[in-house]
Amino acid sequence: MIVKLLLDRKREGGELAPDEIRALIDAYTRGDVPDYQMAAFAMAVCCRGMTPAETHALTDAMQHSGECLTWTGPSADKHSTGGIGDKLSLIIQPLAASCGISVPSLAGRGLGLTGGTVDKLESIPGYNAGLSLDDFRRVVSECGVSIAAQTAEIAPADKKLYALRDVTGTVPSIPLIVGSILSKKLAEGAGTLVFDVKCGSGAFMKTRAEACALARALVDGARAAGRRAAALVTAMDEPLGWTVGNALEVEEAMGVLGGGALGDRALPWPLPYDVVELSVELAARMVALEKGMGLEAARTDCRANLANGAAWARFSEMVKLHGGDLEAFAARPRGEAHVVAATHAGYVTRVDAEGIAKAAFELGAGRAKSDDAIDFAAGVVLAVTHGDRVEAGQPLARLYAPTRPGRLDDAARLVQESIAISPEAPAAKQIILEVVE
Ligand code: URA
Repeated sequence: MIVKLLLDRKREGGELAPDEIRALIDAYTRGDVPDYQMAAFAMAVCCRGMTPAETHALTDAMQHSGECLTWTGPSADKHSTGGIGDKLSLIIQPLAASCGISVPSLAGRGLGLTGGTVDKLESIPGYNAGLSLDDFRRVVSECGVSIAAQTAEIAPADKKLYALRDVTGTVPSIPLIVGSILSKKLAEGAGTLVFDVKCGSGAFMKTRAEACALARALVDGARAAGRRAAALVTAMDEPLGWTVGNALEVEEAMGVLGGGALGDRALPWPLPYDVVELSVELAARMVALEKGMGLEAARTDCRANLANGAAWARFSEMVKLHGGDLEAFAARPRGEAHVVAATHAGYVTRVDAEGIAKAAFELGAGRAKSDDAIDFAAGVVLAVTHGDRVEAGQPLARLYAPTRPGRLDDAARLVQESIAISPEAPAAKQIILEVVE
């Protein structure tokens, strides 16, 4: 293989053969192709795109650059492209497991404004997300679900290529994103993959057209690799649920999972409608596709298992098997809340996801660099949602910043600017924008 000839062809818009792509990825993973040539390849793909056959070969080569897991019996996973207040994995993975399917789920940490599922779980004292693959298999076989951190053995080619793309302006390319996301998810081995592709100010994909194109490509790519797949394109202009911040989001997710079964652990807020609806829609698709049953019957099972404690039982068992202590979590110090109040009366017409994420970041809930520490207790609890009527002086949000009290004023200003209050009530918000099957 002469890499320069492949680069010449891709630069001119030509097509590479599957064997050529495989050889390139294998050589790059071994260290035989230097970063500067791989960066040129990534840039050529960004500018010229890839055919479905090329994307499939790229995905397949990256998937097989490391270990590929297999499971007996029905298995499924959900992947989200990431949003603000997106605690859905904490609910959906145990909920789907409670409906009788194995849910092996390798997740990431947060960077920048978007939180990571692993960070959220690590806000539970003792929760060990860094399992070996053997322990990951053991936890899935014992309680049907494990949410653990991505390991070095899974799709190492993606780890190397993604780090390079991040610093060479080559992240926004649908074939490269599909190869990156799918290689990791396919290597996890689940029979069904359901994607939640977020769209809006708080998402990676800002427009509906981009989000739909990514959703279509993910579903087609997963099917080309022999899996069952579906995607929802969902709104991310406003945060999901009431909370943004690690421990706060876990608390909210626990309230949804617990349904009636939580007793005195029930939420201090009403159940978040958008979180419940999306969790049921995504989990039901995992169950329906994997068990070959109707979607409506799967929805009914999911709602029942949220209400009867079955989903909560899977979650608490998973946390225990990962070493987490839910009693210590419940007893954690919360710190003082700083209240942001409405300056005038009206209707909440917008809660800007990006602005709320910036506020949570200011308060210490996120990290700017991958080795930054985060404050699990920090974040924002919204007291109002889209369409609510508010009076002047009524609380709009409560802010927590136990380790950064000096940032409260800036964060409060960001929250104030993010919540638009107008005289006219807005139209109802649409949560699911498209279904891609
Ligand atoms: N997330 C990934 O895992 N890969 C990408 O390329 C983009 C987002």
